[in-house]
Amino acid sequence: MRNGQPYLDTEGRVIHAHGGWMLDHGGYTYWYGEDRRDNHYVAVYRSADRKNWEFRGHILSTDTPYEETSGRFDPRLSWERDGVRRKVNIERPKVLYNEKTKRFVLWAHYENGENYREARACVASSDQPDRDFVYHGSFNPFGEMSRDCTVHTDSAGDTYFVSASRDNADLHVYRLTEDYLNVDEWVKSIYNHEFREAPALFERGGRTYMISSYCTGWAPNQGKWCSADAVTGRWSLLRDFGDKTTFGSQSAFVYRDGERYWYVGDRWMGGEPKYFESTYVVLEIRFTEDGAPYIEWTDEPEMFN
Ligand code: DGJ
Repeated sequence: MRNGQPYLDTEGRVIHAHGGWMLDHGGYTYWYGEDRRDNHYVAVYRSADRKNWEFRGHILSTDTPYEETSGRFDPRLSWERDGVRRKVNIERPKVLYNEKTKRFVLWAHYENGENYREARACVASSDQPDRDFVYHGSFNPFGEMSRDCTVHTDSAGDTYFVSASRDNADLHVYRLTEDYLNVDEWVKSIYNHEFREAPALFERGGRTYMISSYCTGWAPNQGKWCSADAVTGRWSLLRDFGDKTTFGSQSAFVYRDGERYWYVGDRWMGGEPKYFESTYVVLEIRFTEDGAPYIEWTDEPEMFN
């Protein structure tokens, strides 16, 4: 597969897994992401070699059943106006496996489908990685706005939800409850007034890294990296990552394979209808002797070829 070109699944169909995430489980890598076609929200593919991706289905769509976990959460995955049923908007889905509950838990960004003013997080879960998800609703963590988001489990075993708040000015870090179904504590507000979007976290050599973008809608901009001694610790200054447009992409997530790290970004084509032509940019992250991560352009990423 070539960077910036449509990636195909094992049936030869274009992979729609935008703003996505990969999870290793039971000998497979599951690739989750946005699929905005028809009544779908989140698609999942799986692969045993990360080259051949089998489409497994949609884990979230307008008819995913609701299961209440908190009366504060809004159960709607669609709504009606003038007799017409409308879709909401689900972005940047991330799925974690919870060892204690043996459930797969999805966190994502929820909007009403008309604008980005609701700025909520949403949660769903299942005992399977690729089916039977139930929706637990959307909410504003600690009453705060929550847009671009990611999740991260640190080496101490704590899991965090990180999302853009205060109209994207700040990033908030929340620790999740043990079952991952809610936020337990609002731990920190970082990069205040830096307008960071598209956060992607990973750990290496005892440090926690974050790749993120600036806030320019669908247009790519200069990616930045930063690091801290812990998610809850002191974060460094932001430094350039990739070129002025992050090679025409915006960070989605970092996939770790042992000691190798891969940057996976979206090459957005804009809002609908061009959105559906969005592709991916996958580049291996290398590190300088000082531990500074960097990427270089290559047409064919080894991870997929
Ligand atoms: C940038 C975000 O990172 C995307 O997920 C999406 O919300 C676009 N903005 C919409 O303009």
